Formats: sequence, C-alpha cells, structure tokens
Amino acid sequence: MLTVAEVDPFDERAFGDWYDALRAGAAADREAPVISTLEALTFSLRNPGERLRRLAVAATQNGETVGAMLFELPLVDDLSNVMVEIDVPPAHRRKGVATALWAWAAERAAAEQRSIFQTEINIPSGFDLHSWPGAAFATKLGFASENTEDHFVTPLPFDPATISLLKANTSALASYRLISWAGQCPEEHLQKYADLHTAMNQDVPTGGLSREASAWDAERVRTNDARLVENYLPLVTMAQTLEGEPAGYTLMYVQLGDRANVLQDDTLVMRDHRGHNLGTHLKLANLDQLAVHHDSPGWIHTWTAESNGPMQKVNARFGFRVVEQMHEFELTSPATAGH
Ligand SMILES: CC(C)(COP(=O)(O)OP(=O)(O)OC[C@H]1O[C@@H](n2cnc3c(N)ncnc32)[C@H](O)[C@@H]1OP(=O)(O)O)[C@@H](O)C(=O)NCCC(=O)NCCS
Repeated sequence: MLTVAEVDPFDERAFGDWYDALRAGAAADREAPVISTLEALTFSLRNPGERLRRLAVAATQNGETVGAMLFELPLVDDLSNVMVEIDVPPAHRRKGVATALWAWAAERAAAEQRSIFQTEINIPSGFDLHSWPGAAFATKLGFASENTEDHFVTPLPFDPATISLLKANTSALASYRLISWAGQCPEEHLQKYADLHTAMNQDVPTGGLSREASAWDAERVRTNDARLVENYLPLVTMAQTLEGEPAGYTLMYVQLGDRANVLQDDTLVMRDHRGHNLGTHLKLANLDQLAVHHDSPGWIHTWTAESNGPMQKVNARFGFRVVEQMHEFELTSPATAGH
C-alpha cells in the first residue's frame, strides 16, 4: 500500500531515504541540476527559521521510499502561498506516487487556509511544456507557468583568457567604489546591503506570480547570513558611489557540501546607475574573490529572465550557455480560495 506521511528530520535513516528519493527524482535526465545538499536540508529542517516552515513528506510502499515532497509555508509574507516540490525517482513514475503526495499537499494547505500553490520546474533544452514529465504533471493539476528564467552554466575553473579579455575591454570604473566580502555581511555595510536587497525584490521580474516584494532591514540580513553560513560561503561585491550611496551588488554562493556547483545568485544595478558597465565590473570583482576561495572543477550556475536583455548580454560575455528553462508554476485552488 502507498502511504504518505511527514518525515522527522531528526530520524536520520528516514530523512536520508527521503533525500535520496528527492535527489533521484529531481536530477533525472538533467545535465546540470542544482539540488540542495543533504547537509543543507538537514540543518534547515532541524533548525526552523522564523520566515519559512519547511516539511519533508515521503511516499512509501512496502518499506521503500518511492517519492519525496518538500512542502513550504512562508510565515511573514505571502501568507496565502504554499510552495511544493514533488520528486519521484524514474523507477517509480506513472504509478500515482506524485498524485498521492499532491493530495497530501492540497489537504494540508486547506487546513492552513492557504490557496495559492507554487512550484519550480526545470525543463532541459530539447524538452517543452508537453514532453517534460514535471510540466505535464503540473499542467494536468491546473498549474500554469507564470514566470520563466533561463538557467545558464559556465565551467569552473573559470577560463582565465575570458577574464583577461573582459578586464581589457571594460572601461575603467571612474565614479564608483567596489567593496567585496566573503561570509557574513560586515556590520558597517548591513543597512546599505539591506536596501539593495529591498530594491532587488522590487525590481526582479516575477511575471504573473503572486509574490509580495518583501522589504529587508539590517536585522534580516544579519539573521539570514547567520543561517546561510552554516552551509554556504556567500561571496558579495557591492558598488557604491564615491559619496557612499549604494549602486548595486552581486552575490555568489559556494555550497560547502557541493563545491562543484557554485551559484551566481542576485545581481542588481540600481536604475540610476545603469549603463556604466557596473554589472560586468561587479561580476569580475566577485570572480576574483571566487578564485581565492574555490579551486574545484565544476560549474557556475545562474538564472536570468529571457526578457532581461542587459543581463543576458552580461551572461553571454562571461561565456554562460543555457542548459534549461526554469518555470515557476502557480495554481490557485478553487477549493480553498476565499476562505
Ligand atoms: C513530475 C513527477 C513528480 C510525476 O511523478 P509520477 O509519480 O510519475 O506522477 P503520477 O503517476 O502521479 O502522474 C499523474 C499524472 O500526471 C501526468 N504525467 C506524469 N508524468 C507524465 C509524463 N511523463 N508525460 C505526460 N504526463 C505525465 C499524467 O497525466 C499522469 O496521469 P496518468 O499516469 O494517469 O496519465 C515526476 O516525473 C518527477 O519527479 N519529475 C521531476 C521533478 C519535477 O519536475 N517535479 C514537478 C512537480 S513539483
């Protein structure tokens, strides 16, 4: 019999089986998947933060874990939303495992009075919304793709010839100062870094997704960084005008448990400061930091909306190529909407 139940993150064996199923389902048929490490998920679920409740849910049959779901409830913003990730290893597909996990999610969301479901689905180049299992499954449930970003990779170590060429061809930075750090944000930069995060949330395209642009303050940066450094080394470069006004930043994560996959996360240049090659300068300075802190072979991953012309151009200059499309799907459940 197929049963679906929450997994205790302190039960090492059950949680390990849950993670193995999640990973096998999420990685199948993808060239360059990015999947949170077991260490990162163990830490996160054993030490819940104040902003997000995360539950591990497993589908089991005859003592074997045949499917995994990560079920997430935002606790501060987006209080009508639920994020789900459902992964079924290829050997157990098309037997109703994901449908059973989804039924658990729908029931729990209704109990929590939440009606908006979101999920990320990565579609490798060569597949589309009809031929990729995740998209076919989500579409059958009534989800629609509301936002799309290209997922790019470039190999590590980074090609030194590309860096030299970019440095030689990018005009010098006259009216800005770059400040870089590795690890937690230094106290003296907390407020400016928080303001840049707030601007990023307001600026980043989210298509038709129901998502609030939440604000950051110094305390949120401090708390967030303190959790992050348990499993990631953040590498940050921030740009300021000579008068000290924040102009932009870029952020990369080295995953401590998976050094082969480095994540190029946010890059923002504030509207008033665009057109001065700041995006390229920020990324070059952060790659210099990466060279100091990381020497394993692997990939740098980054995600950019197709419509984001300037960032697409910067990515191309740095030698990134597209491996898949990351779709953010959403469904508003008529059963619970309006409660
Ligand atoms: C998507 C996924 C979770 C489906 O798991 P599953 O256990 O095979 O799903 P189910 O057996 O419950 O399928 C339910 C329905 O979804 C649709 N579906 C699932 N896989 C499909 C596929 N490969 N092609 C077309 N339709 C598909 C079908 O309508 C299916 O019903 P049917 O088998 O009666 O035709 C699994 O393929 C997977 O782990 N993919 C990678 C992770 C992912 O993309 N997850 C996205 C959801 S959050």
